[in-house]
Amino acid sequence: MPPEPPPLVGRRVVLGVCGSIAAYKAAELCRRLVDAGAHVAPVMTDDATRFLGAVTLSALGSEAVRTSLWDEAEPAPHIHLAAGADIVVVAPATARLLGAYAAGIADDLLTATLLATRAPVMVCPAMHTEMWEHPATADNVALLRRRGAHVVEPGVGSLAGGDVGVGRMAEPGDIVAEIVRFLGAAGERHLAGVRVLVTAGGTREPLDAVRFLANRSSGKQGHALAAEAAARGAEVILVTTAGLPVAPGVEPVKVDTAAEMEREVLGRSGEADVVIMAAGVADFRPKAPAPAKLKKAEGVPEIVLEPTPDILAALGRSRHRRPQQVLVGFAAETVGGAGLREEAARKLADKNLDLVVANDVSAPGAGFGHDTNEVLLVGADGSEQTVGLTDKREVAASVLDAVVDLLRKRNS
Ligand code: CTP
Repeated sequence: MPPEPPPLVGRRVVLGVCGSIAAYKAAELCRRLVDAGAHVAPVMTDDATRFLGAVTLSALGSEAVRTSLWDEAEPAPHIHLAAGADIVVVAPATARLLGAYAAGIADDLLTATLLATRAPVMVCPAMHTEMWEHPATADNVALLRRRGAHVVEPGVGSLAGGDVGVGRMAEPGDIVAEIVRFLGAAGERHLAGVRVLVTAGGTREPLDAVRFLANRSSGKQGHALAAEAAARGAEVILVTTAGLPVAPGVEPVKVDTAAEMEREVLGRSGEADVVIMAAGVADFRPKAPAPAKLKKAEGVPEIVLEPTPDILAALGRSRHRRPQQVLVGFAAETVGGAGLREEAARKLADKNLDLVVANDVSAPGAGFGHDTNEVLLVGADGSEQTVGLTDKREVAASVLDAVVDLLRKRNS
């Protein structure tokens, strides 16, 4: 048998290095990436060059190090780097870099490249424990995650100055393994050319001119699904009620009510290869919302509700027109175990779906508003998979893995 090719052959990695003592590990990381077959374009911030000689990375990388936006030989180097990358990896990523990237500040070559790229981004933070645990850093990391960045958590160990704690950059070997897993996953389970329609967020049903009935769906899981599908090369439309960040490559369509969501989804679903209804659609709405504000002096209003259209059930009923389409529903329940399984199976059958993503929203750390989730995937073919408590992007990856399997079976 011929030997297996190195895992990153043909992959272009932009390796960003910031000013941290962990910059010395970037040399090892660069060498390992090149050994794994990657083409590595190193970019250093000015501060990084205080810790590690640019010559070192130029010698180890596939191209000379770039440090400036203002290189006369190459105008707009960030655009060229960003467009050519299969992945941008920042290792080490300092608190400053995470803050600038989260805030959209592009004041040096590395941050400009991060904003200009459509490629997946992986950040490997390194800093003192106090800085890592500061709410500003924690918020920046959470925001970057929601926007689709992949964060390789720092470990516990010795830090600069002899301190010991969390904040030590992940080891180069582990970062390479993570990149291989990430790009490998993207390569093997690609969605290039696939049109995916995702819904997200809870709908808001007007009671009067200033009040509405709503639910606790935050939209985080739907936005994570859209980000993951786009990172895998899909053309993604996200019909959302949420004001959350939208990942690059995702076309957002903002709606508010179940009726608006129904119009947008039914109007666009004919073009979609995959529809994922992650939204919390209201089941009832006020029958006759008052056109003006209801006044206290008029007494307690009697609110009559009427059912909203079930969008997913409508898609399920008309799917004979699109037999190849993959239809995924969610089931947000307040039971776990066998009860959750039963509800998932019922919705799968009633709405004529391929896959149901069921979760017990009353479980700790799962469901509404959290950055993490724990779900049960139930397929129409009887398959079941539990995805243990993890961040919503990882849950999205598992859901899309199942979708890829369904598309593959359908097309074979
Ligand atoms: N859904 C929909 N339109 C509605 C209600 C729900 O498209 N009017 C979709 C949701 O986006 C979700 C799935 O149907 O993907 C299940 O929603 P859920 O509210 O859990 O279930 P219901 O059908 O409302 O059933 P029940 O009230 O029995 O839980």
